[in-house]
Amino acid sequence: MNTAQINQELFTFIRNSPSPYHAVASAAAMLKRHGFLPLREQEPWKLKSGGRYYVTRNQSSLAAFCLPESGRSAKPSFHIIASHSDSPTFKLKENGEMTVEDRYTRLNVERYGGSILAPWFDRPLSLAGRVLTEENGHLESRLVNLDQDLAMIVNLAIHMNRNINDGYKYSVQTDMLPLIGGSHPVSVKSLAAASLDLPERAILSMDLFLYNRMEGRVWGASREFIGAPRLDDLQCAFASFRAILGPVHPDLIPMAVMFDNEEVGSQSRQGACSTFLKDVIRRISLSLSFTEEEYLCALARSFMVSADNGHALHPNYPAKSNPGSHPYLNGGVLIKYAANQKYTSDGISSAIFRAICQQAQVPVQVFFNHSDVPGGSTLGNLSASQISIPSVDIGAPLLGMHSPYETGGAEDTAHLLAAMQAFVQTRIEYEGEEGFQLLPLRANR
Ligand code: CO
Repeated sequence: MNTAQINQELFTFIRNSPSPYHAVASAAAMLKRHGFLPLREQEPWKLKSGGRYYVTRNQSSLAAFCLPESGRSAKPSFHIIASHSDSPTFKLKENGEMTVEDRYTRLNVERYGGSILAPWFDRPLSLAGRVLTEENGHLESRLVNLDQDLAMIVNLAIHMNRNINDGYKYSVQTDMLPLIGGSHPVSVKSLAAASLDLPERAILSMDLFLYNRMEGRVWGASREFIGAPRLDDLQCAFASFRAILGPVHPDLIPMAVMFDNEEVGSQSRQGACSTFLKDVIRRISLSLSFTEEEYLCALARSFMVSADNGHALHPNYPAKSNPGSHPYLNGGVLIKYAANQKYTSDGISSAIFRAICQQAQVPVQVFFNHSDVPGGSTLGNLSASQISIPSVDIGAPLLGMHSPYETGGAEDTAHLLAAMQAFVQTRIEYEGEEGFQLLPLRANR
């Protein structure tokens, strides 16, 4: 696999995904180009053998799946890759334009997720998301990307804040409001309306987020690093959709699901704590005429890869990492462990995933938190409260996670993709709880 090409595809996916709604649209476009058909949650599903489908919820979460050509296998199982569509940013408040002495217009924003705040300053930003329009009684949700250098969160000169380098605490309500215009009146609604060729009064409401305008790029003396906005978690999301384009194991129902709202706790109608995944699996099972018992057997035979990026050793802060053993950029896919079960990996699930990666010759590394540095939470354990499937937590190693521009390894997108491809090409034969046989696609050929 050509790693340079894969990174360029990733950068294009990220550029086209400035908001979770756009990430879903980018994934849907990729899936459609490869024969996946859209389904609606509001209508009955009539699924066909060998069919490839996707369904969205709130325009910000998406689940895609492939059905076996043979209709249904004797021992159906789901192989699920879960990722998230959202990244830490700032959300525009309604009527958010605020003028200062009739000379400046700022935007009133609130925090979305846990950003590193400092790097948001002094770089061109824009707004993207969706607006709800009304024309002749018909409401429509439409994506908007004000694709221009539109706003900047401007620093205060060091002469006016001599303590800025001594551990300054930022106020979101004071320090983080982006400048968007001068004395000429500014209306984000009218900018959004103009971008859609509509009158301003047609817009009833908006969900707009700031985004960093910087492009993804490869850098380093030997081009060994990548930098891009939203690598957490669009790198995993991109790789998951790319993986289920095929080929996949003919007896599996492979799925790639991307949830919104991971960065704010997943507790929404479309987040990992919601019934979204459970409802999709339930409806696939109904469509394939599973009995209740067959449905439960299928779940017990299934496997989930919860894919969310993790942390590489930082060269300036080695003491923050687990002493002794820690991941590096370009070292391969992380298997993430936490004894508190914030990560779902355990001896069994990590052995299965590791064996799949070994067969596919994909390098893996282990990630543990430093025992005094509490780690983050992610998708797998939250999703398990709704639908309980054997699961492992993985990701690509990053530096500077939750900065608006994150750093990864130039080879790790390809590592992630190869691991995910191997996962959807390998059936796991469960022999009770104690034994597992891996049946890779390659062995069938
Ligand atoms: Co994440």
